[in-house]
Amino acid sequence: MPLDIFDPAHYVTTRLPELEAETLPPWAYTSQAFYEREVERIFLKVWNFLGRADHIPDPGDYFTVEFVGVPLIIVRDHEGQLRAFVNSCRHRGTILVEGQGNCRAFRCPYHSWVFGLDGRCLGAPEMGRTRGFDPANYPLLPVRLETWAGFLFVNFDETAPPLSEYLGDLPDNLAGHVAADLVCVRRKVYDLRCNWKIFAENAKEAYHIATVHRKTINQYASAEVAKYEYVPVRGQYAMNYAEHPGVSMALLKGDTGFPAIETLDERARRGTLSPFIFPCTYIAATIDTLWYLELHPHGPDRTTLVHGACFPRAYTRRPDFEEVVKNYYKRWDITLEEDIAICELQQRGLASRINGRGRFCHREKVVHQIDNWVLDRVLSRGDG
Ligand code: FES
Repeated sequence: MPLDIFDPAHYVTTRLPELEAETLPPWAYTSQAFYEREVERIFLKVWNFLGRADHIPDPGDYFTVEFVGVPLIIVRDHEGQLRAFVNSCRHRGTILVEGQGNCRAFRCPYHSWVFGLDGRCLGAPEMGRTRGFDPANYPLLPVRLETWAGFLFVNFDETAPPLSEYLGDLPDNLAGHVAADLVCVRRKVYDLRCNWKIFAENAKEAYHIATVHRKTINQYASAEVAKYEYVPVRGQYAMNYAEHPGVSMALLKGDTGFPAIETLDERARRGTLSPFIFPCTYIAATIDTLWYLELHPHGPDRTTLVHGACFPRAYTRRPDFEEVVKNYYKRWDITLEEDIAICELQQRGLASRINGRGRFCHREKVVHQIDNWVLDRVLSRGDG
């Protein structure tokens, strides 16, 4: 690895058009310094996806998440408003809560300071002799939170433009799915031993389908058949469209599923829209469901993956829902294991002390786009 990994000269060949370009250097996936630069220039600046608001439907519901080294509480307050706070007590910093649940207030497990669901410090025992102490000056630290169609996003940058600007025309492209009143019915968490970009890139290329998913997706939506056409969009995302009339890409070949969602337009009824919101959120909107892949980076080679499965609320009330939905779970569980295994294998290879760079296939357009989106920020003249 060179002494200055941020010298733009190392990336000139990745900046070329994709069919002339080289892949990112291996250190972009293994170096702590590269990862720290991504955190500083990307994850602390952009709208980061954190799943669904229906994960916490009632007042007092909360869940916690660790995101690029920031522990967070996402909570629905007594008025029903969603809020995000840093999960760190304002006394001496202890984590306030773990996991998920429902509560009236957060009581610190160390010395029992209490914080309301709106973040206010409501109680601080035996602090009466502490000169000039006013609990009002020590609320939980808030983090910006905005939603689109029940999807949650947080932003650590007070000056960032609103979420709607970030998403551009994504809401228009998924309007048919969103109109079906989606509800998340399963949220499955995986611990990945790979860089966040490796999994993100894997989600956005069809080149591997013929080998990694030979016995699954390739049976009905191979790159040759479904095309995975690139759709021009406006906003911080990239999108593919795969046409495969009559079959759902969320099922294995021959399995029974739910009918097509009634609110979809003609394009969405004939195939799958798969937007990728930069930097690391994948959504697949098929004819009958919508699922997402949410990534929480923890370091150069550690990432949490959350797979969320959303269906129209009306489907969840069908008497056969629990039986039929098993076919979808089976498909996702199998193909995700296939993807995770290959991504972890790639991480191990990239971590070699002796390694080199490769080239892109024409089916890896969005991989090249992701890598250049990252370089635009990592190599920019930032604050740090
Ligand atoms: Fe939370 Fe002391 S660290 S009350």
